[in-house]
Amino acid sequence: MNNTIKNRWRISRTIAAITIAICGISPAANAEQLSDAQIEQKIDQLLNKMTLTEKIGQLQLRDWGMYGADKTDQLKQDIREGKIGGFLNVNFDAVAGNTIDDLQRVAVEESPNGIPLINGQDVIHGYKTIFPIPLGQAASWNPSIVKQGARIAAEEATSEGIRWTFAPMIDISRNPRWGRIAESLGEDPYLTSVLGVAMVEGFQTDDPTRRDAMAASAKHFIGYGAAEAGRDYNAAYIPETTLRDIYLPPFKAAVDANLLTIMSSYNTLNDIPATANKKMLKDVLRGEWKFNGFVVSDWNAVLEMLPHGFAKDAKHAAELTANGGVDFEMHTTTFEEHLPQIIKEGKFTLAELDQAVRNILRVKYKLGLHTNPYTREGRENIILSESNLAAARQAARESFVLLKNDNNALPLKKNQTVALIGPLANVPHEQLGTWIYNGDKKDSHPFLPAIEATLKDAGKVIYIPTLKNSRDTDTSNFKAAIKAAKKADVILFIGGEESILTGEGHSRGRIDLPGAQHALVDALAKTNKPLVTVIMAGRPLALGNVLEHSDAIMMAWHPGTMAGPALADVLFGDYGPQGKLPLTWPVDVGQTPIYYNRMATGRPATDDNYTRMEDIEQGVFQHVPGNSSNHLDLGHLPQYPFGFGLTYSSFKYSDIKLSTNKIALGSTLTSTATITNTGKVTATETVQLYVQDIVGSVTRPIRELKGFKKVSLKPGESKTVSFTLHTDALAFHNPDMQLVTEPGDFNLWIAAHAQTGLAAKFEVTEK
Ligand code: BGC
Repeated sequence: MNNTIKNRWRISRTIAAITIAICGISPAANAEQLSDAQIEQKIDQLLNKMTLTEKIGQLQLRDWGMYGADKTDQLKQDIREGKIGGFLNVNFDAVAGNTIDDLQRVAVEESPNGIPLINGQDVIHGYKTIFPIPLGQAASWNPSIVKQGARIAAEEATSEGIRWTFAPMIDISRNPRWGRIAESLGEDPYLTSVLGVAMVEGFQTDDPTRRDAMAASAKHFIGYGAAEAGRDYNAAYIPETTLRDIYLPPFKAAVDANLLTIMSSYNTLNDIPATANKKMLKDVLRGEWKFNGFVVSDWNAVLEMLPHGFAKDAKHAAELTANGGVDFEMHTTTFEEHLPQIIKEGKFTLAELDQAVRNILRVKYKLGLHTNPYTREGRENIILSESNLAAARQAARESFVLLKNDNNALPLKKNQTVALIGPLANVPHEQLGTWIYNGDKKDSHPFLPAIEATLKDAGKVIYIPTLKNSRDTDTSNFKAAIKAAKKADVILFIGGEESILTGEGHSRGRIDLPGAQHALVDALAKTNKPLVTVIMAGRPLALGNVLEHSDAIMMAWHPGTMAGPALADVLFGDYGPQGKLPLTWPVDVGQTPIYYNRMATGRPATDDNYTRMEDIEQGVFQHVPGNSSNHLDLGHLPQYPFGFGLTYSSFKYSDIKLSTNKIALGSTLTSTATITNTGKVTATETVQLYVQDIVGSVTRPIRELKGFKKVSLKPGESKTVSFTLHTDALAFHNPDMQLVTEPGDFNLWIAAHAQTGLAAKFEVTEK
């Protein structure tokens, strides 16, 4: 900032402080909380004063970047004329040194009705203190750490004036080819609902007028994660029962948790673009769920209805979007350009326009922007504070999933020589993962210094930076790696995929470890040294020879700012692994889409009834008793089931008991089991409750998650874990789209993952 700008900024802030003081509000105070009726009344008063241009202006969400430094005057003039409702993804220096507050001041002090702007940004898994990617956070199965992550992100982001985030992403995804699976909370509607709500609560708090609270935006509504072939932006085809039972519940749960905003998605759902999907945005969201926040379109999605072949031109796109139920247009300006004419032609009414404006103003009032439009005071020492870093470290520790641990290869010993090898062994940027707008590698704590610090007294690390990135195919430094491996007690290979291979627009057709990593693992295995593999990736990977050769495998996702210390903590046993998979891990890409809560098929595969490639090779046409639903070459089971994850100990599940084995509709069943730590160290197990509705008026999944609980046990210790289950939790959509619990028989499991468990049966009867 040059001095003139700095001074102007200081003067403006002083004026703001005086204004606030005159109104009797201290700069640190939260805004006055208005009742719903008071908010509607204030909106009525505003709507009476606003011109058509100002009303349409409220519906425009601009990106600051489109103006550029040379158009600052134009930008301010547009705000002054009330043509802009808010900004996204602000870049503080982009507009000739203007801050968010400088532009806000123009809106508040110079625009006709002084309506504040709302500033949004993709604060997805942290602002500057980066937490694990959302898929990693989901592997913690810990709503409180997920909520804390969102809270910290909000504290940091609001300290720089951002009061709205485009998170949580609660798209269900069953396809690891899809790059954005990294940003999701996995495949299960129940787990995604619980963790999505935790994020909403963390961002918004129960009082969104708090100056460190931000509006959440659940996205992407709807079906975006079902992109065909996992290719981003691709069409989604979802039967209505699946839509209502699998894809919608996380959004409904978020709406019920007072979610303030929703983002519509890019994709078509059953051939209708989500941006103009009246049925979903109006009938379901507003009609059935009574959502009263605003709906924002995704970036450029309005105009993308042209290539979709749904809108014939920009005006048509604006008409479809406005009538479809989107309130706020992101990035494009078709509302500004065409709504006046569309309204004149009677294709969108003034009452409908007022309703959209009302939805946006309501959120602004709920955030308290009317009394606190500016960035809050007293915000020093918030960003990257010690306690934020400690929380990010804890979240990363809890996100790691131990997939394999033969011969107790893990934890590593601190008096060993460790050969640290692989393309992701020390990667301050890659460890942060996808969608980090403000995260910076200079703030990262990478692995090498962390392992050096851990081994410094008794052990030693030999670091060989093998393969310069995860895609590298140059094998020339393998020799050095092998030499180091031979000198070491144990090889620690850290590979997987870089963050750029995941995320938006970054889907993969193959999901193996790219580059020459499989070859490197083959070469390392030849040394016959114990091999511990850490996978950093935004999706489950087809492990192939990595599985075969590794004594232990730890899935670390992209762990964020504190990846290094967190990994050292868990690999050396200072903290026990406890993560569980939030999705099904395939053997290979040919099994995808893959998910545990699937239908049985008429010919369910079991271990002894399916034909294998070996059978064919031996001339067996089909396995007795016949063909079943499987792949000849990949079998019928995934590599690792949903909910799977080891610890450094072991657990025994025993004594399953139900409070009754007959419950009437409307009542509750309690199930309990004893969990015993049968190993040698204290460990935490995530105990899972699954049910199966055996016969339904539509076919029902073979299992559905209905609850989970964490239990920490010392060696030899036992605890009883209990779950309550109301018959409402068994409801699903029947062919008439009614949400029903049908009387009949059910299976129930208390389990360590989706493919195991203590089983019981119960019956639901009429009232
Ligand atoms: C993404 C959204 C994101 C938006 C704004 C889009 O490309 O799909 O998830 O919030 O950009 O950055």
